[in-house]
Amino acid sequence: MQNFENFLLNNLPVSNSIHPTYEKALHDMLIAGGKRFRPALLLGVVKSYNSLMLDGAMHAAYAIELLHTYSLIHDDLPCMDDSPLRRGHPTLHVTYDEVTAVLVGDALNTYSFEVLANAPFSDYTKVQLIRELATNGGLNGMVLGQAIDCYFEKQPLAIDDVKILHTNKTAKLIAASLKMGAIIVGREELSDKLYDFGIKLGLLFQIQDDILDVTHSSEEAGKLTGNDGDKNSFVTLIGLDESMREANLIADELENELNSFDEALKNELSPLLTKYINRHRN
Ligand code: IPE
Ligand code: IPE
Ligand code: MG
Ligand code: MG
Ligand code: MG
Repeated sequence: MQNFENFLLNNLPVSNSIHPTYEKALHDMLIAGGKRFRPALLLGVVKSYNSLMLDGAMHAAYAIELLHTYSLIHDDLPCMDDSPLRRGHPTLHVTYDEVTAVLVGDALNTYSFEVLANAPFSDYTKVQLIRELATNGGLNGMVLGQAIDCYFEKQPLAIDDVKILHTNKTAKLIAASLKMGAIIVGREELSDKLYDFGIKLGLLFQIQDDILDVTHSSEEAGKLTGNDGDKNSFVTLIGLDESMREANLIADELENELNSFDEALKNELSPLLTKYINRHRN
């Protein structure tokens, strides 16, 4: 992922203005790091089928990371999860102020679509990519999930509804990352299969995140943990043991599905996916 980090550093949003801290604030959370899981998924699919397209695919991988980073900045706001720490650094509303965090989130959101619109693909491919990111990251995707998450704080939901919540707030963007890889390499026949796999992977990813909230310190996680007590997290609702059982079940299903992928895809994605599929077991 070194190439992705270089691409990100070379394509940070630029804003020369009289504002003394705006541009730095736009960069802070992007360069703070993170696992870059979504870019790795997209680039993994592209590498499996056409490594010559990797340079172009960086634009799309970056677009997803921009939208994801915006979602984290807003997620940490006092009106949402009220968190002082993200990616091992103080959150933007702590370093600067709430206005800055809201506006930087807004700017990274729209910049993600600017990056896609300027990417070196055909107009047809770009429209497909923009549609996928908007559909999964927007009003009936991540944003809906966040709305449900915040609205139902302190009101326990049925576990099937929590799966819907997790699917929206987290899984759809993860599924879109795989599908956007398939779109870039023109493997549209694979996109539904990859999307469905990604939804399941994303549900597992959020259940694991709920588990990490109680098993990891803030220092280990680089973000505030022990913070889900009022949330409809898996652990809050069904406890740690049952959440681990559910995560193990989904992880086993994903391992089996991964083995049904064609050789190129399986060989490319296996190391990355095995690490993530098992991360709750560490
Ligand atoms: C955190 O996402 C929010 C969730 C959807 C669980 P990540 O765990 O991918 O956060 P970073 O990108 O590594 O910081
Ligand atoms: C956030 O879920 C999902 C997003 C869309 C950002 P969480 O609130 O559980 O994410 P963390 O634990 O703060 O990273
Ligand atoms: Mg949240
Ligand atoms: Mg949060
Ligand atoms: Mg969490």
